[in-house]
Amino acid sequence: KYEKWWLTFGITCLVVFLTVLGISAFHAGAHPPSAQVYINQEHVDEIAPFDNPGVHKVEGKEWDYEVVVVASAFMFSPMEYEVPLGSKVKFIATTKDVVHGFQIAGTNINMMLEPGYVSEFVTIVDKPGEYLVLCNEYCGVGHTAMASKLKVV
Ligand code: CUA
Repeated sequence: KYEKWWLTFGITCLVVFLTVLGISAFHAGAHPPSAQVYINQEHVDEIAPFDNPGVHKVEGKEWDYEVVVVASAFMFSPMEYEVPLGSKVKFIATTKDVVHGFQIAGTNINMMLEPGYVSEFVTIVDKPGEYLVLCNEYCGVGHTAMASKLKVV
């Protein structure tokens, strides 16, 4: 009889815990990486799409442009890029070495780039301007200098 009670109690705790976890993950606005694709992230820049970083116009997809970014200590590739105002853009990013961040200052775009994973975010760029794209994960001595620029024109 007591065993059943404890089992129910345990499951209830688990459900509450998972719910809290789910809610906090949602509110943090963090975007976990979507897929594990690489065995060796050091050679990630030899594998598509990361062998060709930058802005690419795409056809037949739900978005108009893909922005491919490779982070490494302590820079982004590319360091500067431009997308047309009002377009739907998919950011596709990964890291070549350690954990880096991909945060577009002044927006809700804030991804963690983890070795061996691809991080993606789709958005409509509806505000013109120049945006700083920063690394927001401490990655070493060059961390604070790790920044690039996105232009929406
Ligand atoms: Cu890269 Cu901090």
